[in-house]
Amino acid sequence: MKTLLVQYIPNKRSKTKVLIDAFRQAIGDMEIEVLDLCNDVPDLFSPAALEAYYARIDGDIEHGVPVPVLAKMDRMTAQLKACDIVVVAFPMYNFSMPATVKAWFDSVMLHGDTFTNHPRGGYRGLMTDKKALILVAASGTYSTGSDGIGGLFGPTWEHAVSLAQTEFRFMGFADIRGVLAESMARRGEIAQRNLNQAAEQVRSIVQEWYGSELVTQELAATV
Ligand SMILES: Cc1cc2nc3c(=O)[nH]c(=O)nc-3n(C[C@H](O)[C@H](O)[C@H](O)COP(=O)(O)O)c2cc1C
Repeated sequence: MKTLLVQYIPNKRSKTKVLIDAFRQAIGDMEIEVLDLCNDVPDLFSPAALEAYYARIDGDIEHGVPVPVLAKMDRMTAQLKACDIVVVAFPMYNFSMPATVKAWFDSVMLHGDTFTNHPRGGYRGLMTDKKALILVAASGTYSTGSDGIGGLFGPTWEHAVSLAQTEFRFMGFADIRGVLAESMARRGEIAQRNLNQAAEQVRSIVQEWYGSELVTQELAATV
């Protein structure tokens, strides 16, 4: 099982990283490829890139022929297509995902690669044999909406995990899980308790997804 971890963790005291650490510890020695978006920043759709993208969709540029202006997007897309499980980890910024993470989604959601036209109209995702796990930390509380500005926060303000889920759903992912460590700005035990609970959720998803492979790994270690 090939795992790709896509992370954007610019904060040295990151809470999101606690969830990444829980994931990495839980999968043990299992192989994992890391795409660090702080060092390998995705391209944006410049006018030239968009023109080349449309030319490829229209068949004016053959799919598979290298196009320099799309090279980084193609590389990140190929990396995603090669994995069985993708884990995307990032902090919530302004109720959504940081721009760098959105740029990664824009880079890999390419027509003809991760989705295509549906024969009956609309689109269909091509990543139907893959799983996605989304790990996010946020200061605010979205499940109950109890501590926002004037009590305004609530589920409809949460566009970080929910947007990532929508993107993966569009690409056809078979199993999509989101873990949100919320209330990270709360005082007292609440923040730590929520972070522990989120880490526990991560460990239980790992057990569910990697259970049999983990047992094989343990057996191999004892022989
Ligand atoms: C630029 C910026 C924007 C943020 N916007 C939000 C927000 O809209 N909602 C929220 O709940 N927290 C917001 N936060 C707080 C972070 O989500 C919070 O600090 C979380 O712990 C970040 O994860 P990290 O600890 O991994 O950096 C923001 C933080 C930064 C730096």
